[in-house]
Parts: sequence; structure tokens; C-alpha cells
Amino acid sequence: MSDGFLPTEKFSTDLDRLFVWRRDVRHFRKDPLEKGLLETLIERACLAPSVGNAQPWRFLNIETPSIREKVASNFERENGLAAATYKGTKANLYASLKLAGLREAPIHLAVFADTETDAGSGLGRRTMPETLAYSTVCAIYTLWLAARARGVGVGWVSILDPQVLSEDLNAGENWQFIAYLCIGYPVENHDEPELVRQGWQDRIDASKVLFSR
Ligand SMILES: Cc1cc2nc3c(=O)[nH]c(=O)nc-3n(C[C@H](O)[C@H](O)[C@H](O)COP(=O)(O)O)c2cc1C
Repeated sequence: MSDGFLPTEKFSTDLDRLFVWRRDVRHFRKDPLEKGLLETLIERACLAPSVGNAQPWRFLNIETPSIREKVASNFERENGLAAATYKGTKANLYASLKLAGLREAPIHLAVFADTETDAGSGLGRRTMPETLAYSTVCAIYTLWLAARARGVGVGWVSILDPQVLSEDLNAGENWQFIAYLCIGYPVENHDEPELVRQGWQDRIDASKVLFSR
């Protein structure tokens, strides 16, 4: 039984504002999160939907400076390789982008999917085992929104070699790397994605992504 919650117009409006506010953040203040807030965000993330209710998300809070250093080196190496794939003005623009807040963010959270979890008894994933990864992404987005609703920013770093990262982090066996999240209070708040403001990629209008058959 639920508590009979019926969404009001104000609730819908506020929720819509949250979707607009939720930005990928790369510019963090260095001060720590309020005590207990990380645990609250993880609890909210665990409310996400998952295939067969498998709840395959696993979170590693990376606190050790030497491990953080390895992650930063991994990013710098991979970002250099990625930069070399662009030419001309796009290459210059790419080089000017800030694509991670690893040096400033007070919290580093690596997120994995347990690909061998018994939870859920395999329901829903016989034909699409990748639904465990999709479920983990749902948890990440839930965390992202819960964070933003509390004035906290999240940045998703994917410019990493996942194999090297999993080894450096001593990740659990059968844990598939999904995301490396930088979490902290943002230096500035924006409604527009940074990549739009920097001229890398505009938003695509919603009318362009809906098709019929
Ligand atoms: C799966 C995924 C991977 C991403 N990886 C990176 C990344 O490595 N570096 C980065 O700066 N942003 C990364 N982002 C953030 C996107 O660039 C950002 O979400 C996008 O530009 C839209 O901006 P917005 O999140 O502010 O709406 C990632 C986002 C997603 C969903």
C-alpha cells in the first residue's frame, strides 16, 4: 500500500525544473559534502528500478589519494588519445573542454554492475543480460537527480580505460564498470549543458527523436 500520494501541479512543475537543473558538473568546490549526505544519495539510488529486482548496482567510494591519482592518470592518458582523434577547429575546441572534475570533487564514486548476482533469479535477462547494466544506469540517474535536488552536482567521467580502472580499484569479481562519478557542490549552476555553452553540441529537439511505425 502506498501513502496515497497524488502528484499536484506544483510537484510536477518542481520535478520538471529538476530535470532542467540537472547538469553534468565539472567545476566543483572542494569542500566536503554535508555529513551523511552521500549515504542518503546511495539510499535514493537504491530505489531505482532494476531487471527482476536484481539491484545489481555496486558503489565504491574512492577515498585513497594514491588510487585517485591512478584514476586521474587514466583519464589524462585516455583524454589525450581521444583528443588526437579530432582535427582542425573541432580538435582545438576539444582541447579547450573541461571533461572531468577529478582534481576538485570531494567525492569519487565508482559504479559497477554485478553481472553474476543471484538476486532476481535471472528474471528478465535471459535474452538481454545487458539489462543489469541498464538497471545500474537507472540507479545512477536516480542518484544524479537526488543529488541535484539537494544542491549537489554530479559529473560522469567515462574517458577511462575500464580494464585498467577495475584493476586499479581492485573491483569485485564479475563487477562490470559502468561509471566514475565526481560528486560535490558546484561552483556555478546552469540550466544549459556545458557542451551547448561551449559550442560542441546543441540540444536535439524532442520532435526529431520521436518516430512512428
Ligand atoms: C554515459 C555518460 C558518459 C559521460 N561521460 C562524460 C565524460 O567523460 N566527461 C564529461 O565531461 N562529461 C561526460 N558526460 C556528461 C555529458 O557530456 C553531458 O551529460 C552532456 O553533455 C549533456 O549535458 P548535461 O548533462 O549538462 O545535460 C557523460 C554523460 C553520460 C550520460
